[in-house]
Amino acid sequence: MSTPAATPAEPRAFPIGRQCPYRPSDGYAPFRTEGPMSRVRLYDGSVAWLVTGYREARALLADRRVSINPRLDGFPALSAEMAGLENTGYTDVLIGVDPPVHTRQRAMLIPSFSVRRMNALRPAIQQIVDQRIDAMLAAGPPVDLVAAFALPVPAMAVCVLLGVPYEDRDAFEGPARSLFDTDPERAGAAMVALSEYFGQLIERKVADPGVGLLDDLIAGPVRTGALSHEELVRYAMLMLIAGQDTTANVIALGVLALLEHPDQFARLRDDPDLAAGAVEEIMRYVSLIEAISRVAVEDIDIAGHRIRAGEGLLIGAAAANFSAELVRTPDRLDVTRSPRHHLGFGFGVHQCIGQNLARIELELAFRTLTRRVPGLRLAVAADQIRTSVTGPMERLAVLPVAW
Ligand code: HEM
Repeated sequence: MSTPAATPAEPRAFPIGRQCPYRPSDGYAPFRTEGPMSRVRLYDGSVAWLVTGYREARALLADRRVSINPRLDGFPALSAEMAGLENTGYTDVLIGVDPPVHTRQRAMLIPSFSVRRMNALRPAIQQIVDQRIDAMLAAGPPVDLVAAFALPVPAMAVCVLLGVPYEDRDAFEGPARSLFDTDPERAGAAMVALSEYFGQLIERKVADPGVGLLDDLIAGPVRTGALSHEELVRYAMLMLIAGQDTTANVIALGVLALLEHPDQFARLRDDPDLAAGAVEEIMRYVSLIEAISRVAVEDIDIAGHRIRAGEGLLIGAAAANFSAELVRTPDRLDVTRSPRHHLGFGFGVHQCIGQNLARIELELAFRTLTRRVPGLRLAVAADQIRTSVTGPMERLAVLPVAW
């Protein structure tokens, strides 16, 4: 065993704000020089490990000695909103649960996410993408690409996946957003509203089955008694939330990155078959989820350091995605390469279960937008574009475009 190195004197603050909305900050450079593991100070004054090395990040995400349970002491929260998340019930399935319970939960869902099932959704997603572009073109420039395209495409796609009527969106869209409110009362009320909506929807579906993931679960584990209605409501909420804003922000930030790299936009427009591969490069470059939280449940020796049981870990997916171990020229956006082993969807047992759906949405969004709106451009100066950060994720509120 190598001798554990001394930890740096004064931990730097984390998260590191972006200078440029569509890629992680250069502020990761000193961490990288320091080595694959650093100590960082969080908003509440607590200290955690930030793992910036690609190899170490993957190793720790696959290590059974780390836990995703946010209720354990030492589990690092990036903001007050994130710290309150476990009280919403959001983390009660999959995303806050360790094996073996996680393994059983995930196994129930796997058939609904198979590549075959996801490919069967392609025509519906293409139709959604085309309809949104039709509406955009009919409205004429300038248009806010976030409201017109980036948000509705994943929202409608996740409804198709779940079998949730998109017409019901007034009942679930607002509460889904308020679930992350720092005010516990508002977050609690949102939770109740969402539970009620899904509870009623599930009753409707039991009486009159339809097509979608919720219907699969009703016909399978709910019927055999392996899953209660209450648990099903939790799954529905998790999918709805995990699948929408993530994809929406990768579409919006990805389009912004392409518009700021006109040669890359042109390459994609002129060769649409690059789109599927380019999705991997855009996921890497945008690195939407900057850090993935875990806590050590046993001592772990890694890269000359000893992580003690109870210490928080932030797996720096964004930093690792800019590692020369993953691509030779990490600072370049190059849509002709396809770095599929990026950490944009995480790694290990919790690796994004919706990644194949997200990939299809992103591919069809970038491919169709560049083909059908070949003259797409920003309608304001790039430095006027504002983002905000919630927990580990950069959000683009408005993206004014013209053509
Ligand atoms: C581009 C869009 C997306 C990004 C960037 C993304 C990112 C991620 C990441 C990084 C994780 C791992 C979290 C961790 O290890 O703590 C994750 C997990 C998850 N994602 Fe996604 N995701 C996306 C789209 C989706 C979609 C479309 C769905 C569902 C419809 C979805 C559902 C989930 C679920 C349920 C988990 C938890 C899996 C588990 O714990 O076993 N995601 N996602």
